[in-house]
Amino acid sequence: MAKMNVVKGDITTLKVDAIVNAANQVMLGGGGVDGAIHRAAGRELFEACLEVPEVRPGVRCPTGEARITGGFKLPAKYVIHTVGPVYCDGTRGEAEKLANCYKNSLSLACENDCRTIAFPCISTGVYGYPIDEASEIAVRETKAFLAAHPEMEVIFCCFSERDKTIYEKLLNTN
Ligand code: APR
Repeated sequence: MAKMNVVKGDITTLKVDAIVNAANQVMLGGGGVDGAIHRAAGRELFEACLEVPEVRPGVRCPTGEARITGGFKLPAKYVIHTVGPVYCDGTRGEAEKLANCYKNSLSLACENDCRTIAFPCISTGVYGYPIDEASEIAVRETKAFLAAHPEMEVIFCCFSERDKTIYEKLLNTN
């Protein structure tokens, strides 16, 4: 049984190998969980993000991809920055892009010998992705990845009781 757990709380407090940040393509901070992670990690995180090369002007991390930096003042060793899709109407490839966020973040964590990784509910805040569909994609992709990497453990860190309940239902049927 793949090791997936759900907690409700602030992802910046989790002592795991890597926490995932729901960033934007510029990757220099923002609001929501991005703002919380940058505030908790301190200025060094901003400086580490500046070091990440732009793939094109103003874009360090294209939607669906992931980049890794240190965690600095966070209890987590690493921050994996990923950029979720902005949800329009579900016909613009949003599901595939969101799936890629989980796949690429998990691969990057594995490549950096992370055994424990925590995800926020990517794209379900400012980017407007409906939580029901987004959580199904998150659990499906994570389960598939963990089947090949049974040594890893994934924590879904929800910020609300509602989101936690949605994830718990999915995990009880997986
Ligand atoms: N810990 C865990 N989850 C959190 C925290 C926190 N400290 N703060 C917010 N969240 C939750 C939100 O409640 C939501 O469920 O993270 C989820 C993702 O919401 P956003 O942070 O708004 O991220 P997203 O929807 O992916 O939008 C990304 O928002 O902050 C900007 O720079 C960011 O432009 C990017 C966009």
